[in-house]
Amino acid sequence: MPINLLYQAILTVSKAQLSNKHIILGVTGGIAAYKAAELIRLLRQHNAQVRVVMTQGAREFITPLTLQALSGNPVHLDLLDPEAEAGMGHIELAKWADLILIAPASANFIARLTNGQADDLLTTLCLATIAPIAIAPAMNQAMWLNSQTQRNCQQLQDKGITLFGPGSGTQACGDVGPGRMLEPLELSELSAALFPTGLFSDKKIVITAGPTREAIDPVRYISNHSSGKMGFALAQAAIDGGAQTTLIAGPVSLEAPEGAARIDVISARQMYDAALTAAADCDIFIATAAVADYRPTKLADQKIKKDRNPNTQDTMVIELSLNPDIVAAVAARPDKPFTVGFAAETQQVVDYAHDKLTRKNLDMIIANDVSAAGIGFNSDDNAVTVVWPQGQQQIEKTSKRQLAKLLMEHIAKQYQRTNS
Ligand code: C5P
Repeated sequence: MPINLLYQAILTVSKAQLSNKHIILGVTGGIAAYKAAELIRLLRQHNAQVRVVMTQGAREFITPLTLQALSGNPVHLDLLDPEAEAGMGHIELAKWADLILIAPASANFIARLTNGQADDLLTTLCLATIAPIAIAPAMNQAMWLNSQTQRNCQQLQDKGITLFGPGSGTQACGDVGPGRMLEPLELSELSAALFPTGLFSDKKIVITAGPTREAIDPVRYISNHSSGKMGFALAQAAIDGGAQTTLIAGPVSLEAPEGAARIDVISARQMYDAALTAAADCDIFIATAAVADYRPTKLADQKIKKDRNPNTQDTMVIELSLNPDIVAAVAARPDKPFTVGFAAETQQVVDYAHDKLTRKNLDMIIANDVSAAGIGFNSDDNAVTVVWPQGQQQIEKTSKRQLAKLLMEHIAKQYQRTNS
């Protein structure tokens, strides 16, 4: 293959791998800091979202303003800055990251990271994150070859931190040898390679999300508190895994992830129609929607007036009819996709989930306790138990975004088992 076509092909693969990934680019003090500007440009070209954290030393080599303009986000500078903390606090930032990439990583920074220090924002983030960390060392060849630096790098690798480079060649100080930071293009490709591709690369996934609204009259309805956040986060994770993703959304105020085919519906019956049509041509169906179990039997043509209430003045009776069970209907199809349900319960969470798994003929159910404070409906966090016919696994409280990633990995594993 001609070189330019080969390069195009590599770029296309890594573009998908970095698409929508949250990358914290840590820039430390060294002459190679100027290359961070080009690195940000390349990461963004790969559709990654980039937030830059600069150490004090880095600011001597390149201005925060340059990196802010290129990243499209404010640059994070200090740990003890109340204004920055109010915007996105350091723990929030640590949770936001899918990868912390430190380029350039100076000898001093590497030493501080090895010691587990938390004496500035960047080292603190490295301690607080569960995201992978990669460092691109950049220093004078003698500093790189120094036995202390070598020991530090070995220790970091033993802890699971990835080293990108360094390369070898002419250095800013005139020396020749190892310690040059890898070029931005190599760093962007190596970063992309850290993300697995194609969990769902040739798969079609349909996800229902949000609440439904069941009209009583032209101005009133019955609904619930579902925000749709979990379903939207799963759609993002499905897209990240390479799936062709359809998101059937009830009325929510969320933006669909880029690349999802969104179908907006209001009522359970509309969701049923959309879901059954989409499920006829999909591999995996995930029902996160909090579908209203019942709808008013009769929809009043006009707004119901208090004084024309056929019942007494003090009470009003609305007759309700059962809505179709969407996920059960999908799972009853002869060509049923791998079907995943959610069970929001307030008691005996796992027992009820097992019961639902069997009753609705599901392949997997994700159970969560909506009575627990700070998780479930409308919250940004969730803690769940994943239940499938042969087992179950608990996932501790984490952000819905992180949880979505973990759940999609579980779904991929069980899907492969069922279909192999
Ligand atoms: O029976 P329950 O409502 O607790 O079951 C929850 C699961 O069933 C969820 O996955 C939800 O999306 C799905 N469901 C559905 N259609 C309904 C009711 C629930 O798809 N009418």
